[in-house]
Amino acid sequence: MLLAYVPFVEANSHEDGEHDHTALEDQMSAMNKAWRSIRRQIKDSSKNESTLALVAKVKKAAQESAKLTPILAGDLSGDEKKKFMEGYQKAMKRTTGLISQLEAALKSGDNAGAEEIVAKINDARKHGHEKYKPEDD
Ligand code: HEM
Repeated sequence: MLLAYVPFVEANSHEDGEHDHTALEDQMSAMNKAWRSIRRQIKDSSKNESTLALVAKVKKAAQESAKLTPILAGDLSGDEKKKFMEGYQKAMKRTTGLISQLEAALKSGDNAGAEEIVAKINDARKHGHEKYKPEDD
């Protein structure tokens, strides 16, 4: 019977059973999906309305991400952990600032400028992952 379904157990597990899905991974996955579409259509000014809706999603996920704690912080304590978290939050807030710039460029119809900001956000992602994300993830 249907009542036997237990969603809260399944919702918290990876299918490969490696580790539980963290809240940050969920935000990152949401960002990733929208980000792929943004990259695909950034040059096409006829899609700017749709691109702006996707950018709003990425911005919200980045803002939420800044409030969360990366898996790697769990290996640290004391001053080391404090430094790690400050660096992480600063990088994520800087990324949110770039996303706001991307919004402004799209709103003014500057697709060439928007493309340059997309490249900067890709760099921020690369550096953010190098410093704060587990290597095998
Ligand atoms: C457009 C920008 C970004 C995209 C599309 C993106 C995408 C992703 C994806 C797909 C994952 C793997 C999620 C999973 O395993 O389920 C991930 C993980 C992660 N990302 Fe990002 N990312 C972005 C920017 C950033 C930035 C700027 C930082 C740091 C300042 C960052 C920090 C992390 C961390 C720490 C993880 C590991 C999750 C955890 O520790 O719980 N990401 N990201």
